[in-house]
Amino acid sequence: MGGAARTDDQAVLDVGRAIHAAFPSAGRRPLRALDDKAMDLASQDEELKAALFRFVDVVPACRNLDDLARHLTGFLGEVDEHPPPIAVAMRMSGTKAGRTALGAAAAAGVRHMAHRFIVGETVDDATGVMRDLWERGVATSVDLLGEATITQAEADRYARRCAEALDQLTAVYAKLPPRPQLEQDALGPLPRANLSVKVSALTPLLRPDAPELGKRDAAVRLRDLLRRAKDRGAHLHIDMESYDSIEAIADLVLELLAEPEFADGPSAGVVLQAYLRDSPALADRLVAFAGSTTRAHPLVVRLVKGAYWDHEVVEALQHGWSVPVFEVKADSDRNFEALTRRLLEARAGGTPIRPAIASHNLRSVAHAVAVTRELGLRDDDLELQVLRGLGDDLQDALAANGLRVRTYCPVGDLVAGMAYLVRRLLENTSNESFLADQASGTPIEQLLAAP
Ligand code: 2OP
Repeated sequence: MGGAARTDDQAVLDVGRAIHAAFPSAGRRPLRALDDKAMDLASQDEELKAALFRFVDVVPACRNLDDLARHLTGFLGEVDEHPPPIAVAMRMSGTKAGRTALGAAAAAGVRHMAHRFIVGETVDDATGVMRDLWERGVATSVDLLGEATITQAEADRYARRCAEALDQLTAVYAKLPPRPQLEQDALGPLPRANLSVKVSALTPLLRPDAPELGKRDAAVRLRDLLRRAKDRGAHLHIDMESYDSIEAIADLVLELLAEPEFADGPSAGVVLQAYLRDSPALADRLVAFAGSTTRAHPLVVRLVKGAYWDHEVVEALQHGWSVPVFEVKADSDRNFEALTRRLLEARAGGTPIRPAIASHNLRSVAHAVAVTRELGLRDDDLELQVLRGLGDDLQDALAANGLRVRTYCPVGDLVAGMAYLVRRLLENTSNESFLADQASGTPIEQLLAAP
């Protein structure tokens, strides 16, 4: 991809080995992030996987345990072959007592899964986790769960929660001890309090057929949040979501950041999704923006592979559109490396930009570190990011290697978090995922091989 300069594979291997040796689970086989029985079974059987996903999706709407059990067995009933644990569940559903027990077990299972990824229902609940991470040398970006709002009232409520979260995060982080490695790089100070927001939650009007309407509506709430972040000295990060909203979000954010009142703050960032075929064009646009504005804070660009793959493929096929994402995973991985290099080269060339490379793939991460060093940059010119519950081992290993790592920490309840949870489960049950390869004992040289 891109035909860009090739990275020295030996350098990647050396960095990858050093990080891997610092995994808390080094020496034993790392667990895949989700080792729950149901999800293991689901990984092996597409039909069963679909049934379980439909179930997880309706859990928040179920009225009681009996209702929960009926839904579970209703979905499972459509699966042709039942592996033994599922056959037991089906038999239990024959009696009221059995259904109550099954409903309780299913509810506990879903809550257990959710807890891996969601740090608390409120920012207050999440404080302990944030403090603990900071003390271990890990920064966070807090994500208030919620997306795709339907009404103006919902969008107002989400904006209000975000504003409160900015205040709360600032207060929490003000009390924590210094962590120089997390607080500044060669371009200046890095805010401690960092909030990620989703534009689809800030307006009910974000629609591809009328982008201006959604932008105008979201702009009012986003501008307020930018003002609040500036006032509190916090960082505001704007997530990217599905393909149909990307252009509107990129336009919105870059237009707002160019407004004179935001010239001296806040620190802000956007996301670049490497699974998109046209991501190199957005990368160019972001680099050009970062290089041409006179904003006091360098633009943070979080590079991710992308979390809406299944949605993009299904939606494109349904409409007969060309698929906007790479369908072969290695193509995404290669593009991720090309974009990593693109962002780091911009930084090395003097563009005020802060690349934040977000991946759980040890090869992608080691590649980013190797390129940073190859370009003569310092390790702190690079930020690495992981998701809570998926990158916990990696996060600790990166911190132990003296690298700056930030963990994305979702906060909210199960209802607001359902779409997020389903995306994490999809990643976890994908047989192509790096974490699955790692958990199955694939040798390190193979895990670190060029995609
Ligand atoms: C998501 O919400 C992590 O922003 C990403 O799936």
